[in-house]
Amino acid sequence: MKESMDAQAGLAELLQWYADIGVDEAIGDVPVDRTRVPEKAVVLPIATTAPESPATIARATVSTSASVPEAVPVTGTIEAVKEAKALAAAAKTSEELKAALEKFQGLSLKRTATHMVFADGNPAARVMVIGDAPGTDEDRAGIPFAGGNGQLLDKMLGAIGLKREENVYITTILNWRTPGNRAPTQAEIDLSLPFAQRHIELVSPAVIIYIGGSAAKILQQTGEPISRLRGKWLEYNSIPALAIFHPEYLLQNPAQKKVAWEDLQMLQARLKEMGVL
Ligand code: URA
Repeated sequence: MKESMDAQAGLAELLQWYADIGVDEAIGDVPVDRTRVPEKAVVLPIATTAPESPATIARATVSTSASVPEAVPVTGTIEAVKEAKALAAAAKTSEELKAALEKFQGLSLKRTATHMVFADGNPAARVMVIGDAPGTDEDRAGIPFAGGNGQLLDKMLGAIGLKREENVYITTILNWRTPGNRAPTQAEIDLSLPFAQRHIELVSPAVIIYIGGSAAKILQQTGEPISRLRGKWLEYNSIPALAIFHPEYLLQNPAQKKVAWEDLQMLQARLKEMGVL
């Protein structure tokens, strides 16, 4: 009797631990095509939970003559990345790109999220603001930077004459919230990147603003932290790009607002110089 109660308490603790670390869905990160399980070689996508750089998908090939374990996510990513690239390339407008993303079935995040988050603001704006991934508020609202982070972002932009309804276009690299807001895996980034890159190409902004280190690192293809990326002009395919602190970080570290203000002033000066403001 005592043993069974101990076992139950252990299970409850384990479930609580899963909930605490954000495991709220009993499905994998990568779709499994069970009709295409190879007989001898299993290609295992290695899910990195801390995306430091968007290197090509990390994979390990495990040769085995033993039987293939049933539940391993064996296929999907390489084919899905190819499909993502083809769909993104075929889109001739942002609306077509949005429709392509809606059609794309290669990213399982779509099944756990409530809404797709594509963009907000003025599609004709010359300033493109890019975040990494939608969170809980964005998932609920279906637009980027929708909650407290969004309110602070709007204030920051407003302080230098930028307004999302007028002269800013806002998007995210990933278009669906990750379960429990965990860090996106490398496979999820690789599957989202073709759409994000095409989105930038189609909008063709005069200036890009990365909100936070993750967005900057993914699009600049670097492992450098935000502390090294901010405060200087970067380039994304010849477009001037500036990385600024994420509003969430500023809410937690208000002392950094002074530095963020310096970055915003630097941005404002450049926008004035370019005739954007
Ligand atoms: N970070 C946020 O807080 N919201 C977004 O929409 C994107 C990145």
